[in-house]
Amino acid sequence: MQLDREDENILAGEYGETRQKMMEILVALGKVFGAEELVPITSAQISGASYKTIGEWGLEWLRNLAARVAVLSVLNPVGMPRDNWRDIGISKEFADKQLAVMDAYRKLGVKMECTCTPYYLYTNLTMQDHLAWSESSAVSYVNSVIGAKTNREGGPSALAAAIIGKTPKYGLHLFKNRMPQVTVEVEDSDALHAGHFGAIGYLAGKEVGNRIPYFTNIRASRDQLKALGAAMAATGAVALYHVKGITPEARLPTFAPEPSEKIVIEASEIESLFKEKEIDAVAVGCPHCSAEELAKISDLLAGRKVKKPLYIFSSKGVKDANAGIVSKIQKTGAKVIEDTCIVVSPAMDKFDTIMVDSGKAFAYVPNMCGAEARLGSLEECIEEAVR
Ligand code: F3S
Repeated sequence: MQLDREDENILAGEYGETRQKMMEILVALGKVFGAEELVPITSAQISGASYKTIGEWGLEWLRNLAARVAVLSVLNPVGMPRDNWRDIGISKEFADKQLAVMDAYRKLGVKMECTCTPYYLYTNLTMQDHLAWSESSAVSYVNSVIGAKTNREGGPSALAAAIIGKTPKYGLHLFKNRMPQVTVEVEDSDALHAGHFGAIGYLAGKEVGNRIPYFTNIRASRDQLKALGAAMAATGAVALYHVKGITPEARLPTFAPEPSEKIVIEASEIESLFKEKEIDAVAVGCPHCSAEELAKISDLLAGRKVKKPLYIFSSKGVKDANAGIVSKIQKTGAKVIEDTCIVVSPAMDKFDTIMVDSGKAFAYVPNMCGAEARLGSLEECIEEAVR
């Protein structure tokens, strides 16, 4: 792989041991995947930030690093909200460890935004941007809906790219690798409502695996595309998808023709995922809620009181920018929680059955929270919480 003079010097250790190690990670990755060069990135989103997932070993590794990130870098959700962790039953022992992880990242220059939706906070992303993002739904959204370019990085490789300011140019950084590989058609697509998109993603991901799907007959808002992509990344390994006439690359004149292999998602399959069952908590905001979703939740809750625990996850940035709406929601008894999420926080582990409006959470809750999951639309989730 071709390195410039400065990169060679970093690799030789002239800029310290941490930068040397980080360059070694990037070069090793580049060699494995056949990259010819490194490409400068404009931002990084780093997973491996919850103490629940990285544990003591991860914390020690981070503490031993001595460098600063070279580009705007944020974290994936961590295991608790940084301030009000007691409100969701987090133990002091866990909180101390989680705060130590965040402190280690802060010393590296990482911005304390802990979210899987950094695209709501940094809105100047374009199709020209190369990124090193980690969280699967964030990767899917930024590749597909914005048209920026990132592979799905692991925590260490995203951090290495953040510190060096570059990433190996292979995979989805190359336009030729971003063409659709399988066509997906959704039966009765005119009858779809917002809550169906997570379910479609849940089903499509299982069929598509790690290929690039091309949806030919759906209309979807950005929040619906977010739900679709997050679920496909959870049940499959979809890091990029296209939607005819909607996503940016699908509108380029150079876009490839419709792939001949076709998958049909049947209406009955979608409906079969929405099964009634008794629940003991409701959690929405996977991926983290947008401002529009918070406003919708506030409208749905207006004049009502929550009877079952209702957890709403969002980023600190979006929450702070919508403080009035958040305050209205919290007055109903619901909790709007920043920095963490359904899956990476131990707070949800105490429930037996959790209702979610997200195909991704529906896929992950059984294994990651040890609970049964019930899928519903956002409206049904709120209704269940106030009933
Ligand atoms: Fe985000 Fe956590 Fe869901 S990282 S996509 S809220 S599982």
